[in-house]
Amino acid sequence: MSPVRGYVFDAYGTLFDVHAVVEAGREITADPAALSALWRQKQLEYTWLRALMGRYEDFWAVTESALRYALRRLGLPASEPQIRRLMDAYLALTCFPDVRPGLERLAGRPRAILSNGAPRMLEAAVRSSGLGAHVDHVLSVDAVKTYKPSPRVYALGPETLRVPAGELLFVSSNAWDVAGAKACGYRVAWCNRADAPEEELGAPADLVVTGLDQLPV
Ligand code: LAC
Repeated sequence: MSPVRGYVFDAYGTLFDVHAVVEAGREITADPAALSALWRQKQLEYTWLRALMGRYEDFWAVTESALRYALRRLGLPASEPQIRRLMDAYLALTCFPDVRPGLERLAGRPRAILSNGAPRMLEAAVRSSGLGAHVDHVLSVDAVKTYKPSPRVYALGPETLRVPAGELLFVSSNAWDVAGAKACGYRVAWCNRADAPEEELGAPADLVVTGLDQLPV
């Protein structure tokens, strides 16, 4: 196998811990983990639905719609300032402990983020997590106005890094995202943080790790 010439990372759930927003949910519910899980699930569903409908709205708008739905579905009344605080938590995410050492080990070859996140959200998360020095490119689906797993999104990696997909390693904790990248020709590593079973999408990961510090150099 030819060596890997660059790395492309998913953001939310892979680098940044989205369930850290749970803290901001404590003032609304005794079960902030349930709110966080439903919020995340609806956020992803809305990206898939909007992509299929051809009705792109950026990830900030999708994230807020998903939050409003999750609050109503769980019967949790929330004031507008409480909703703002939950949304703002997305701008101050932390990264998982293996992320910084993992990215440091890969220095010397381009390291890109490729994410559904709106540019402003990604910039804020990179800043708040202190990853700026370890990331060379931050690529947002906003450039092509659709969402993963559209091939138009994954094409941004090879286009920007000027390296064919087959010589890039795409890394995500979301198994469906790994399948989407593999379908576009990337080599793929699944960071199985949640000890989940593999998806049945006919595109298995080439490599499975539990932290980014286990990626091949
Ligand atoms: C992203 C979502 C899929 O960052 O986690 O693109």
